[in-house]
Amino acid sequence: MKKILLGAGILFLASCNNDVNSVAEQPETQPQQLSGKRVCPSDLMRDKILSMDPAARARVNAIEEFTQQRLSDIKVGKVLDDGTVEIPVVFNVVYNTDNENVSDARLQSQIDVLNRDYGATNSDISNTPSEFVPVKAGDTKIRFRLEKTVRKQSSTTVWTPDENKMKSASTGIVATSPDNYLNIWIVNKMTNGTLGYAYYPGTIDASLDGVVIGAPYIGTGSGTSAPFNLGRTATHEVGHYLNLPHLWGSYDVGCQTDYSNDTPASPGPNYGVPSYPLNRVCSGVSRSQIFMNYMDYVDDRAMIMFTTNQRQRMQAVVSISGPRSGLRLY
Ligand code: ARG
Ligand code: ZN
Ligand code: CA
Repeated sequence: MKKILLGAGILFLASCNNDVNSVAEQPETQPQQLSGKRVCPSDLMRDKILSMDPAARARVNAIEEFTQQRLSDIKVGKVLDDGTVEIPVVFNVVYNTDNENVSDARLQSQIDVLNRDYGATNSDISNTPSEFVPVKAGDTKIRFRLEKTVRKQSSTTVWTPDENKMKSASTGIVATSPDNYLNIWIVNKMTNGTLGYAYYPGTIDASLDGVVIGAPYIGTGSGTSAPFNLGRTATHEVGHYLNLPHLWGSYDVGCQTDYSNDTPASPGPNYGVPSYPLNRVCSGVSRSQIFMNYMDYVDDRAMIMFTTNQRQRMQAVVSISGPRSGLRLY
């Protein structure tokens, strides 16, 4: 804080096109020596305001603090220069058999899938029906970086999702700084054929926050289980983690809002590989369904895109004052 206050005296240069920019480079120059020359009044006005108004000084200090924080975010790579937010990921692999102790290559393949899907560089996005091309998201400007992998053997063979036992010290792996890292637990098998689950922002204790994925569904390649073998379970669950509801809005009641205007109302999940067009009814109105969206339940090869509104929702969540802004402040 002290450093910022000191710097504030010389750092502020409003963008006046003039010939006294050298003031900043020669701090010893006294303002009086400039008399007779044309000067940019911005500094003098600011200094006068700051000397008389402590509230203004506090605001200006806060702005500089914010700016310095933002620049250091960029420096360490969590916010890229173009505004892209890079989410650091911690994989917590809780395995029973060796098979379930998925390889580093598999974990990296999952990161790669996330980066393609969230960057809209997945090759199958070109299968988007022309009806939905206008609402197709493009780059969400959210990326993922593998930060750390923690592994632990466990005698548990079936996990019950909301018990979250994979997240406690005695039966699993404790999260790493959940406000600052996306923790993804990988477990051998879950009840009811669950592929994965996630917590929406604001809903759970930090210690339980994050995503859980079944071992056969993480990443791509050998060891994964078709038709959920393209890493899209994580794409879907991270969508929830970044505040995207299902297309039908709620678990047991369909035709609820998903807060995205560009996804047609949906009475409930679709499975398998539906063929387009697929019309379904909400409140008496039949609409072509955007079943190829990541937030449906279709097979991995059938889910290929986010919409613009979904992108905006996720960006809001990771923005500087969003509920998951901590992901950029580790
Ligand atoms: N939570 C959902 C489930 O367990 C995830 C669905 C993901 N879909 C997919 N094609 N990978 O069913
Ligand atoms: Zn879901
Ligand atoms: Ca909608």
